[in-house]
Amino acid sequence: MANTSIAQEVGKRRTFAIISHPDAGKTTITEKVLLFGHLLQKAGTVKGKKSGQFATSDWMQMEKERGISVTTSVMQFPYNDCLVNLLDTPGHADFSEDTYRTLTAVDSCLMVIDGAKGVEERTIKLMEVARLRDTPILTFMNKMDRDIRDPVDLLDEVESVLNIACAPISWPIGSGKEFKGVYHILRDEVILYKSGLGHTIQDVNIIKGINNPELDKRIGSFAAQLREEMELVKGASHEFDQELFLKGELTPVFFGTALGNFGVDHMLDGLVEWAPVPQPRATENGIVAADNPNFSGFVFKIQANMDPKHRDRVAFFRIVSGKYEKGMKVRHVRTGKDILISQALTFVAGDREHLDEAFPGDIIGIHNHGTIKIGDTFSQGDSIQFTGIPNFAPELFRRIRLRDPLKQKQLLKGLVQLSEEGAVQVFRPLDTNDLIVGAVGVLQFDVVVSRLKFEYNVDAIYENINVATARWVYSNDGKALDEFTNKASQNLALDGGDNLTYIAPTMVNLNLAMERYPKIKFHKTREH
Ligand code: G4P
Repeated sequence: MANTSIAQEVGKRRTFAIISHPDAGKTTITEKVLLFGHLLQKAGTVKGKKSGQFATSDWMQMEKERGISVTTSVMQFPYNDCLVNLLDTPGHADFSEDTYRTLTAVDSCLMVIDGAKGVEERTIKLMEVARLRDTPILTFMNKMDRDIRDPVDLLDEVESVLNIACAPISWPIGSGKEFKGVYHILRDEVILYKSGLGHTIQDVNIIKGINNPELDKRIGSFAAQLREEMELVKGASHEFDQELFLKGELTPVFFGTALGNFGVDHMLDGLVEWAPVPQPRATENGIVAADNPNFSGFVFKIQANMDPKHRDRVAFFRIVSGKYEKGMKVRHVRTGKDILISQALTFVAGDREHLDEAFPGDIIGIHNHGTIKIGDTFSQGDSIQFTGIPNFAPELFRRIRLRDPLKQKQLLKGLVQLSEEGAVQVFRPLDTNDLIVGAVGVLQFDVVVSRLKFEYNVDAIYENINVATARWVYSNDGKALDEFTNKASQNLALDGGDNLTYIAPTMVNLNLAMERYPKIKFHKTREH
């Protein structure tokens, strides 16, 4: 049975994350978004993390830095009549599987593209992940105050490389030093740009109507050029269609400059108007709607050692249905135990706070000492298990070696626990005693070595190993699987949860194995 007050809260919420390649402007746009959300008085105060900052692997130092990133890892703010949750996606050296999994906890994504560079490699990967659930995507073409590529080319590239139709909502007028502003196609108005005001919310300077002679007075020959371009653009591009957007097949595109804080508000207006409210989620036995009165949700990220003195962990939990109330009792489905959530963290005003209630689409942080795993469901009522919070095949691999061989058992225990937190994945080859760790971001290897030392008292180092990729293997045909396991054992390993995994030295090797064993399925993701 639906609950009206929960339904009202659901209607207000928009939960999204930003996908982008490093340096495209994610931190800058986050800052401007928070400015519009009145979480920041003045831009220039969000601490961004630059690559290289963690060049030396000093875990305690990283922890201090992480203290900062945690408070900004979920931000809730009001915009127009909505409440927006922005989930941070670690992007530079701290890029990890958490980045991918965060995308399973949102209802829409903002893709930020550097207008001078176009579609870059990390964006392609992140889009692939967003596509697993057909997440609706908004696009912001950034850095119009620089010399950018032809906007038509940029849209073409998004369409062909990312395979999503583009519907420009705004269109840039000039670029670089000659950036004059944007034409908002749907509103039929030109918004003029003034440089040097990026740290504030600017008074908008609007000219109504593309044929308004005032436009020619203000921007000279750019006005005629704009009219000409719009003829072409309207003929050649897609019109915005909310249904296609919600299916993840079409993206509304906004142009602007995050640094100049220009165009970010157009994107936010689009987000609250068109992006989906908290969506229903699949469980093993059916769908749970957001306005279901029973509280439920899942863990998509675990942050360890937020406070080195306490050694506690915070599980980041996405509420799917019902209402969180302080002190409520919920079932931890995997363990079958009922637990009391008395001190959940809620993320409001950019800070960690203890709040009394939270609703679907919101993220709460649950303290624990290692009892919660990624993918865990908590629910009130039925013992349901949410699906769609997978492990992702690692892209980087190292062999872990002990300095003290007697610590093999602790090493394995540590690695399995760290893999349950999602820090890295561990693989034990069937034929050797090696321990291989896999990650999607290179910093994770340093994190693991220093956490092994501080938390498990294990002195280990990592070294290169000739592994290109991994796939989880399955088959409905037991005989085929046995034969495969025998013949390919030198390439097989068990992961932290004892699942059979194919470890490929090269992509060519993987492709050959897939051809050779057609009855075996090779999966890039694995459900918990
Ligand atoms: P990221 O989080 O996606 O990695 O990108 P970030 O926002 O840190 O931006 C990367 C660089 O691009 C920064 O410059 C930032 O100032 C700049 N930038 C972001 N948006 C715009 C824009 O609209 N126009 C222009 N011209 N530059 C933009 P940096 O030199 O690396 O850092 P900083 O020293 O300026 O902070």
